[in-house]
This record gives sequence, C-alpha cells and structure tokens, in this order.
Amino acid sequence: MTYFAGKTYWLIGASEGLGRELARMLDAEGAHVVLSARNADRLESLCAELSHARVHPLDVTDSDAVRRAAAELGPVEGIIYNAATYDPVRATEWDSDAVLSMCDVNFVGALRVLGEIVPRFVKAEMGDITLIGSLAAYSGLPASIGYGASKAALLSLAETMRHDLKGSGVVVRIVNPGFIKSRLTEKNAFKMPMIMSPEDAASRVLKAMRKNRFRSDFPAPFSWFIRSLVFLPDLLVYRGK
Ligand SMILES: NC(=O)c1ccc[n+]([C@@H]2O[C@H](COP(=O)([O-])OP(=O)(O)OC[C@H]3O[C@@H](n4cnc5c(N)ncnc54)[C@H](OP(=O)(O)O)[C@@H]3O)[C@@H](O)[C@H]2O)c1
Repeated sequence: MTYFAGKTYWLIGASEGLGRELARMLDAEGAHVVLSARNADRLESLCAELSHARVHPLDVTDSDAVRRAAAELGPVEGIIYNAATYDPVRATEWDSDAVLSMCDVNFVGALRVLGEIVPRFVKAEMGDITLIGSLAAYSGLPASIGYGASKAALLSLAETMRHDLKGSGVVVRIVNPGFIKSRLTEKNAFKMPMIMSPEDAASRVLKAMRKNRFRSDFPAPFSWFIRSLVFLPDLLVYRGK
C-alpha cells in the first residue's frame, strides 16, 4: 500500500513534460488521476497507458470550462496545478500576447481552478493542493517578462493560502523546480545549469507531496544560488546594468 494508493488527484497540465510523468508515477503508485490539459489526443494516449486514469480536457483560460470541469469532476482528495506556458520575452522586445498568455495560464488559471476547489476542500475539512511553481519566482531574471512575475505571484498565493488554511484540514504546498527538459526549455538558447529529466523532476515532486512540506526547491545547489540572489547587494546582482 503506497501513500497515494486509492486517492484521486486532479492533475492540470497532464499532457506533456513534467505533468505527463507525474501522471505515470501517480498511477504506478495506485492513485486515480483525472488528466486535464487542452490537447485531448495527448491525454487519451496517456490514459491508454495508465490503469486508473480518466481524461477531462480543459483550457484553464476559459472560466466557464473550469467551472464546468470542477462540477463534473466528482470527489477528489487532491489537485496538482502544473499548467503553464513559457516564452522568453525581454523588456526591449516586449511581446504583449505572449506575456498576457503566460500570466493568464500560469497564475490566473490557478486562481480560476482554486476558486472552484478551495471552498469545496474547506467545507470538507480536507484536501491536498500542490502548485508547481519555479525557481524563477525568487528573482527577476533576464528575458522573463511575464513568466517570472506569474511564478512569483503563484508563490505569493501559496504563502497566503498557507496562512489562511492553517487548521482547516487543507494542505497547500509549492514545488519550485529548476530547469527541466521539455518543450518549454527547448525555447532557451543558453546553457541551463543542472537541467533535469521530466522523470527526475516528477519523482522529486512526488517526494515533496509525501513529506507534506510547504516548500520544495530543487535541484540543490542551483536552488540555493537562486534563492541567495535576494540577499546579495544590487550592485553585485545588476553589475554593469
Ligand atoms: N521546464 C522547465 O525548465 C521548468 C522549470 C521550472 C518550472 N517548470 C514548471 O513545470 C510545469 C510543467 O512544465 P513543463 O516544462 O513540463 O512544460 P510542458 O511540457 O509545456 O507542459 C505544460 C502543461 O501545461 C498544459 N497547458 C498549457 N496551457 C494550458 C491551458 N491553457 N490550459 C490547460 N493546460 C495547459 C500543457 O498542455 P496543453 O498544451 O495540452 O494544454 C502541458 O500539459 C510548469 O508549471 C512549468 O512552469 C518548468
């Protein structure tokens, strides 16, 4: 009997990359997974591999669709908000459509989903919420207009929920990975330190979920470096700028 056996999780952003691996690992641990993302074909092909999964296609930028999906979902013990989009955008080459889309999917989409799920969990005095953030939340990095802010906002949201949900029976955690090999990082032309496979990243997410720890940052020491930027003098961080 594993920690996840028999529990039902709504996994949003399940069709690709980290989410696809999370679905496989949760299923292998005996969890029932409801697979959501926009690409129904990719979700169906994943579902065919799994033993206890079902598919519920969803675009998190569509408020009515989120409301409908939550209503049709049935009972769930936990949700994992993994959906995100990323394009490298520099302030000097501002791309408004890309920036607004990143904020809408990565942060506002989470608000849409949580707005349906949190009241239900609070009423039931139970529920497990995992938000997939990013180490990019900790510092304004170059060429991260929109993405960095969306992940910083998600972190702030998780911290507030942690205060407010204390003693409610509802658990919230944020998992902040470093670079993962996926279609998102294929867009980066620079060298990505300590880049992980989706399998490695997914097993670290599951470990974080088992431990009930609020915050998990990985991989170390890259995560220590990113978090330390906030303590360094601006003169050092923005030298020559
Ligand atoms: N890759 C990295 O280096 C890295 C680093 C730190 C954190 N992360 C975080 O890890 C998570 C997974 O990223 P990944 O690298 O695995 O990316 P990915 O392969 O592109 O997966 C993103 C998932 O989000 C879904 N999604 C995107 N837009 C959506 C929408 N409007 N509605 C519903 N679902 C939507 C995608 O499915 P559809 O396209 O089918 O909708 C896909 O399943 C994200 O939260 C990302 O920010 C990634």
